[in-house]
Amino acid sequence: MNDAPDDPADSLELRSFGRRTGRSMSARQAMLWDSVLPTCALDLSHQAPAYPAALFKNPSLASPVSEIWLEIGFGGGEHLVWQATHNTGVGIIGCEPFRDGVIKVLAAIEAQKLQNVRVHADDARDVLRWLPAGSIARAFVLFPDPWPKRKHQKRRLVNTTLLAALARVLRPGGHLRLGTDIADYARTMLMAAQNEPRLRWLAETADDWRVRPDDWPQTRYEAKAVREGRSSCYLIFQRI
Ligand SMILES: C[S@@+](CC[C@H](N)C(=O)[O-])C[C@H]1O[C@@H](n2cnc3c(N)ncnc32)[C@H](O)[C@@H]1O
Repeated sequence: MNDAPDDPADSLELRSFGRRTGRSMSARQAMLWDSVLPTCALDLSHQAPAYPAALFKNPSLASPVSEIWLEIGFGGGEHLVWQATHNTGVGIIGCEPFRDGVIKVLAAIEAQKLQNVRVHADDARDVLRWLPAGSIARAFVLFPDPWPKRKHQKRRLVNTTLLAALARVLRPGGHLRLGTDIADYARTMLMAAQNEPRLRWLAETADDWRVRPDDWPQTRYEAKAVREGRSSCYLIFQRI
């Protein structure tokens, strides 16, 4: 069966993720899902607030968040939790449809009493459509699913449609970080970014894309790539 989209815009709706659930939830996981997720889930059934810092209004936060970051496909949440704990004045929205990954982040939110994380346990593209223009200061898409088979490559998350959606929500001067260990995906990312006039690649030397910055912790997926002998690309773009 040929499921190629007729219109490039349709590719926005092609499923870009694999499985959503693993084994059935333990009692503790079910508790996190039922009790912690509702305290930090985004409610997309209502219009986004005009000033999305309001999403992080919380009596126990000393001051309102200074800016909002967005991580798409956080997997096990290692990078998301690291950023949230190292940047407590920033509100971080994480999107991930894989339930076990979401539960890992919920456990960290509970254990570390993180107040600055909001979660969308589903497709990030819903959040991109929902957020007001210019509301995000940093966005991260780290090691998106490689979909290595040629017939599946249209499912790759990062394409011109996604970059246009990200360019809309990023504020001028904001940054987008993309990571991948797949050389031809890196090329696709760079070509898609070249087609997006609101994004400028910041690399000036090879080390700018070959060396992971200190404030970009290694993710679980990248660690696996290292174990398997693959090196990675760290692409940083600025919203013009
Ligand atoms: C290869 S994993 C990498 C996870 C993590 N970023 C890391 O580096 O370890 C890619 C993740 O992206 C998630 N993903 C794929 N499509 C997505 C989408 N449309 N919205 C949000 N997350 C998505 C998948 O569920 C998966 O957990």
